[in-house]
Amino acid sequence: MVISGKELSARLKEEMAAQVAAFPDKYGRVPHLVVILVGEDPGSVSYVTGKAKASEVVGIRNTTIRRPDTITETELLTLIDQLNKDDSVDGVLVQLPLPKHISEDKVIAAIAKEKDVDGFHPLNVAALWQKQDCVLPCTPKGIIKMLKAAGVEIRGKRAVVVGRSNIVGLPVAKLLLDENATVTIAHSRTTDLPSVTRNAEILVVAVGRPKFVTDDMVADGAVVIDVGVNRDPDTGKLCGDVDFAAIEPKASVITPVPGGVGPMTICCLMENTIECFLRKMQRAL
Ligand code: GUN
Repeated sequence: MVISGKELSARLKEEMAAQVAAFPDKYGRVPHLVVILVGEDPGSVSYVTGKAKASEVVGIRNTTIRRPDTITETELLTLIDQLNKDDSVDGVLVQLPLPKHISEDKVIAAIAKEKDVDGFHPLNVAALWQKQDCVLPCTPKGIIKMLKAAGVEIRGKRAVVVGRSNIVGLPVAKLLLDENATVTIAHSRTTDLPSVTRNAEILVVAVGRPKFVTDDMVADGAVVIDVGVNRDPDTGKLCGDVDFAAIEPKASVITPVPGGVGPMTICCLMENTIECFLRKMQRAL
């Protein structure tokens, strides 16, 4: 079975649109997401455009602030500070990666944790690892939603996550653990990676290398979640970290690229923006 993140996210966005439509009467306004894009990296431009389109579908107000890649760290931090203080703003997202002269850690930590719709702020990360109430990072949250929508039982399963990034690998491993999977985190220094991935009942791949996972690395009947978004060096087309054509016949469930995890990430960003908005409304009571 191929899980369409595109279809699932379209359904969820419709439900959110109905929810948001009631907000002006209830709360006097709709949620407001501000996305900051520094520079013109084509990948980042495309993600930011996707976020603006999804906001429109859901009825969330979206402001995209574009700044040249010559912006200084101080200027960016000042901008974030203004947005933190702006009561009309519910969510602030700085599209990553940032130019090398700007510290991503500093920028992420500067966002008010209540407006951190990415769930990247150190306090939100700590809350996640302590099982406290927090905004969950979008991609990991979307992956768990897809698994559940596909009827995959996570509890008790051997889950292998390939990749250990702060954005995907580490948090998705934690969420799988919270769903009672037995989780292994593998990475570029793992010895005999194929023997580890072949042991996976649920395999999540987030390494950012085109067709990194080959047929011999996947067990028959495995559930395969492909987080990669790469250009196929042979065809120039978008492709995942998993060799889809070779693995689809043997996987019980697999996600395509494009149209798999990507749309779910954006869908969860919408959900997180609504969450941050509602918490703020609750705090104001
Ligand atoms: N760059 C790649 N993925 C992400 C993400 O989830 N959030 C942000 N802000 N930047 C990204």
